[in-house]
Amino acid sequence: MSVVAVIGAQWGDEGKGKIVDLLAEPADVVVRFSGGDNAGHTVVNQFGEFKLHLIPSGIFSTKAISVIGNGVVVNPRVLLDEMAALKKQGMATSRLFISDRAHLVMPYHILLDGLEEEARGGKAIGTTRKGIGPAFADKVARLGIRTSDLLDRDVFRERLSAILAHKNSILTKVYNARPLSEDDVYEEYCRYGEILAPHICDTTALLAKAMNDGKDILLEGAQGTLLDPDFGTYPYATSSSPMAGGGCLGAGIGPARLDKVLGVFKAYCTRVGGGPMPTELKDKVGNSIREVAHEYGTTTGRPRRCGWFDAVAARFSTRVNGFTHAVITRLDVLDTRPTLKICTGYELNGEKIDFFPASTTMLEKCQPIYEELPGWQTPISDIRDFSKLPPQSRRYLARLEELVACPISIISVGERREQTIFKKPVW
Ligand code: IMP
Repeated sequence: MSVVAVIGAQWGDEGKGKIVDLLAEPADVVVRFSGGDNAGHTVVNQFGEFKLHLIPSGIFSTKAISVIGNGVVVNPRVLLDEMAALKKQGMATSRLFISDRAHLVMPYHILLDGLEEEARGGKAIGTTRKGIGPAFADKVARLGIRTSDLLDRDVFRERLSAILAHKNSILTKVYNARPLSEDDVYEEYCRYGEILAPHICDTTALLAKAMNDGKDILLEGAQGTLLDPDFGTYPYATSSSPMAGGGCLGAGIGPARLDKVLGVFKAYCTRVGGGPMPTELKDKVGNSIREVAHEYGTTTGRPRRCGWFDAVAARFSTRVNGFTHAVITRLDVLDTRPTLKICTGYELNGEKIDFFPASTTMLEKCQPIYEELPGWQTPISDIRDFSKLPPQSRRYLARLEELVACPISIISVGERREQTIFKKPVW
């Protein structure tokens, strides 16, 4: 039995989808534990191309159980659309279970996400406007509505009535927006509840049984560590923890049960939305990486900001997650580059620093200090054996491994499952 967590080690979009899809094949249970439909990844497998936002990648396995854990906020409309799309392509969704403690994204969360962003003006976070921040804020403020509330119409009505009155006064009095109709929201969500009821259960019991039966469990991360509300570039962060610790909490698994923590790093850096990114390239090189790698958001379609690998941020990510294995993705994107840069430190107010500052204002002032390595300038997507990689590419990986302070176990050299080099087995 193993419990393996796959964690985004940068600002999200590290290519976790492919890694999870690959590791989900032999897994017995795959669990999403944080975020909501702000996440998105494209899975390309033998069944076709799929864009998933909420449903764990285990859905493609013929045996695995897929779990949406308590740490996820669920927009039921998005979930049902995703389930319908999968069914249309011949996938079964009967082995999908949703925690009865997961909070719901309500229509007012989505409205407020947009209104709050507009009110921030030039200081906008650049959220996905999916209502994620307001839904997590309500969870902590004890104003949330959970999936289990949908299973009892009276309980749901009472809770919605009290909460919506409060939300409508914010919508109308603070933002001068139109109020929502309680009856409409009630009817809509009761319909969702009826359809989702067979999938809603105490998923911690299911996971405990799986662990006792010696099954393999995969915790599927969403977003990345540098967007974590504690350790990310706050306030330019998301609202739930995408980290290994968040995995235990958002799935309901004790920390001592975690066997392996995989940190997924892209071979360069990207970020969507606002906030500091010391290695961002606003030049031809950045544009060329974006076009070669097609770096546009799966959820919002926004162009991603691209830059060189930031080893200062990466080392910090290893530290706060306790990665046991590093995964380097999209190495092939760098195939044509004559030289490659790695940021090994920052220059701040004329001094060299080697730590990732808590202050966003400080990080914004940090200038990257680069080390330059030769590129390999040859296609690597057909290589499956580490020793067959060009020497310059092995040198680049060796330097990343040293700087990130974690052994590399998987290298991804293309979007398809088979375009993967295993240096060290994971399961
Ligand atoms: P929110 O999670 O929609 O509130 O957005 C907060 C920040 O996290 C914004 O900068 C988003 O662009 C970023 N973000 C949220 N989800 C993802 C993701 O799946 N990948 C990359 N960035 C994300």
